[in-house]
Amino acid sequence: MAGPAFEVGSRQILLTGIGPMQRRSFLIWFSRTVYTACAATVAAPMLRFLSAPLVSNTASGGPILRRIATLDSLPTGTPQKLAVIGTRADGWTKHPDQVVGHVWVTRTSPPSAPADSAKVSVFNAACPHSGCPIQHAVANYVCPCHGAKFNDDGTKVTADGYTNPSPRGMDLLDHRLVKDDATGQWWVEVEYKEYEVGIADRVEKA
Ligand code: FES
Repeated sequence: MAGPAFEVGSRQILLTGIGPMQRRSFLIWFSRTVYTACAATVAAPMLRFLSAPLVSNTASGGPILRRIATLDSLPTGTPQKLAVIGTRADGWTKHPDQVVGHVWVTRTSPPSAPADSAKVSVFNAACPHSGCPIQHAVANYVCPCHGAKFNDDGTKVTADGYTNPSPRGMDLLDHRLVKDDATGQWWVEVEYKEYEVGIADRVEKA
């Protein structure tokens, strides 16, 4: 005689040849398995959503790719401090179009150089010592907080009788020159990142 039957998807399963207790145990085990699988399916994306702000402690939640200046607007040899606009994360709330950081940008090739082969340097303006905003003086970069100094190529200044508090040089940022299809203008596009401060190695913030 056929035992009880239940359906899994389009298939019907008959419990035959086993006693009532075994059937009950099997059905309990089967119900728990299905319940656990359903709960895991629902919980996994929810846990990812809830934990996201906890593992993201940068202003933006990661690198930001931004066009920050046209090549024509940059004078050769004079660093320009520019703001990077992006989305600032505050817990689970996102604030778009905020200043998330600053960069120092210098056009290093002469104006006569073709735009597609022009050279530009881009540094994060945050001091690697404790994160204060680096300024540019006549001869080099200086940090007003504790006196760190950097050469125009971003390396640390070293001199007799001077102890540079910065553990490393300024943080160089990846960038490229891109031509706007609509206007024909060349732009400096920067991959803005933030780095841990107070350590010699350049480690990107998580
Ligand atoms: S934060 Fe720049 S020298 Fe300390």
